[in-house]
Amino acid sequence: MTIQTPAPPFIQLHHEDRAALRDELVAGLLETPAHIAPKFLYDALGSRLFDAITELPEYYPTRTEAAIFEQFGAEMAGVVPGGSILLDLGAGSCAKAARLFPVLRPAAYVAIDISVDYLRDTLQQLQKQHPALAMLGLGMDFSARFSIGAEVADWLSDGPAAQAPRVVFYPGSSIGNFNPDEALALLRQAHAVCRSGSAGGGLLIGVDRAKPKAVLEPAYDDALGVTAAFNRNLLLNVNRVLGADFSPAAWQHVGLFNAPLSRIEMHLEATTQQTVCWPGGQRVFGAGERLHTESSYKWPPEAFEALLREAGFGQARHWSDAQGWFSVFWAPA
Ligand code: AVJ
Repeated sequence: MTIQTPAPPFIQLHHEDRAALRDELVAGLLETPAHIAPKFLYDALGSRLFDAITELPEYYPTRTEAAIFEQFGAEMAGVVPGGSILLDLGAGSCAKAARLFPVLRPAAYVAIDISVDYLRDTLQQLQKQHPALAMLGLGMDFSARFSIGAEVADWLSDGPAAQAPRVVFYPGSSIGNFNPDEALALLRQAHAVCRSGSAGGGLLIGVDRAKPKAVLEPAYDDALGVTAAFNRNLLLNVNRVLGADFSPAAWQHVGLFNAPLSRIEMHLEATTQQTVCWPGGQRVFGAGERLHTESSYKWPPEAFEALLREAGFGQARHWSDAQGWFSVFWAPA
């Protein structure tokens, strides 16, 4: 007889509202310059293209961060409390957190992503590999507001980790998608979550650093054109969500470093004058006119440390690669 591992529980707090998404798209399309939020990059194909980006020789962040965890895992284990509730922001495949289970030794694992659908399969597999670890899948748009609601509190109070310190894990430099004000707001909420558990909690976060343009720009405009495909695929997603008629072939990928704002910007640039239509509206784009699709802020470590302090965290420490391209911060609550 085989013993079945019970499936982890799932809670979906956030429900995607198609009408709200369409309103958001139209508002951005009608502004000058036009913009579309980076979340529209991640439909099923976009998520796969992003995975391909992480394999590119030019795209250093993913492998550099992995090497930092590899090299300094033992040191991290010395400051990050074991027996914690590990809250994984933007968990996706849960692979990064799972690789760190031996280092972080959590008592409970909460995988948070916008939709639990993405989490269901991976979390069930993960539960089989770690039958003793309490797991929860949480569907939440933490970028709009990050807090641990009553449902999660109830789940925690049933489990062995109810009083454990809370460790928020936010790898991949996804914090870079937020401008400094938004990043501060999210970090403040993360701080409140860390403080709501017992003493010793904190934030373990991957942050991409400011560095020469000659390294940054190829990482966002690679020779194979994978990042270009990733960017232009956003138009196919917008066509689907909004019922628009963008033709991706008429748009060119632009990835550039805006040094004064210390951010990579991705744009789509119209190659010819064209009219884009959607139900109830349209816009003419002139040749060379741009549509802003993503910003990815690059932080000097001192500036990020100051941001963590402003968000309420204690004295942070960080680990870096030898080239100083990427940092992993531990910020105690
Ligand atoms: C997933 C936001 C961390 O900014 O490097 C990669 C997204 N965009 N190539 C990044 C991205 C273009 C990525 N983040």
